[in-house]
Amino acid sequence: GGEAHVENFDFPFDGPFGTYDTNQLQRGLQIYTEVCAACHGLKFVPLRTLADEGGPSLPEDQVRAYAEQFEVFDPELDDTRPGTPVDHFPRSALENAPDLSLMAKARAGFHGPYGLGINQLLKGIGGPEYIATLLISYEDPPSCAPEDFAGYYNTAFTAGGYPEDCKDEDGGHMYPGSWIAMAPPLAGEDVEFADGHSNELHHEAQDVAAFLMWTAEPKLSQRKQAGFVGVLFLTILSVLLYLTNKRLWAPVK
Ligand code: HEM
Repeated sequence: GGEAHVENFDFPFDGPFGTYDTNQLQRGLQIYTEVCAACHGLKFVPLRTLADEGGPSLPEDQVRAYAEQFEVFDPELDDTRPGTPVDHFPRSALENAPDLSLMAKARAGFHGPYGLGINQLLKGIGGPEYIATLLISYEDPPSCAPEDFAGYYNTAFTAGGYPEDCKDEDGGHMYPGSWIAMAPPLAGEDVEFADGHSNELHHEAQDVAAFLMWTAEPKLSQRKQAGFVGVLFLTILSVLLYLTNKRLWAPVK
């Protein structure tokens, strides 16, 4: 045991031409709002960006309505007021729950082999894959663990506590993963989607992970597009320079 296995989910934003799927981001936002937001914040994400094209693309009136659910402390009023699109999402409500704004870029799903990073070259860093896998990787703890061991056994989470009784003579872990402080947040059928999209655990995990990739990298589509235009431009420039070169030296040959 030891190494955790991260599933290589197929995301619409994978690959050099991948982009976010608006419907998937809206479903992920719904899951975040109805489940994760009870504990986790998104303090780096301005609410107005929910209207951004290439993001969840919510209509402006829906963004305003969404923002109003939050009580925001306004230093100018020295009082709280309903949120507006210029405010950010709140910070984590639970002290030991990390902020999720950048989590998809803070974790790697794929490693190796042998520290070469070839898996990341082929599959990507794997942040959203890690998050989706984490959410579906709760299992009954192995019988070596004491009944009262703190946390929940998760085969994808490697940074948590690990019972001495589940280590071999060399201190190696006999089972993958470790014990996480977060209770399983999703069980499947946790939310109802307006469009009737599947709310199976596997789909919910993937949709909320896609949303968290967007919060961490909101300009992914634009970045890929700019890169493509750049490569296209350089290709055309190369052809023109080659022809210019031919023409310039033609009399000398
Ligand atoms: C940790 C996601 C719901 C409490 C985490 C981590 C992620 C995550 C990605 C970080 C794991 C790591 O460090 O590698 C989510 C998502 C949720 C959700 C997507 C909704 C579907 C909740 C809820 C609670 C909660 C509802 C509280 C009841 C925590 C805590 C940690 C944590 C306490 C720290 C765990 C530790 O370090 O042992 N969560 N979470 N989460 N979450 Fe959640």
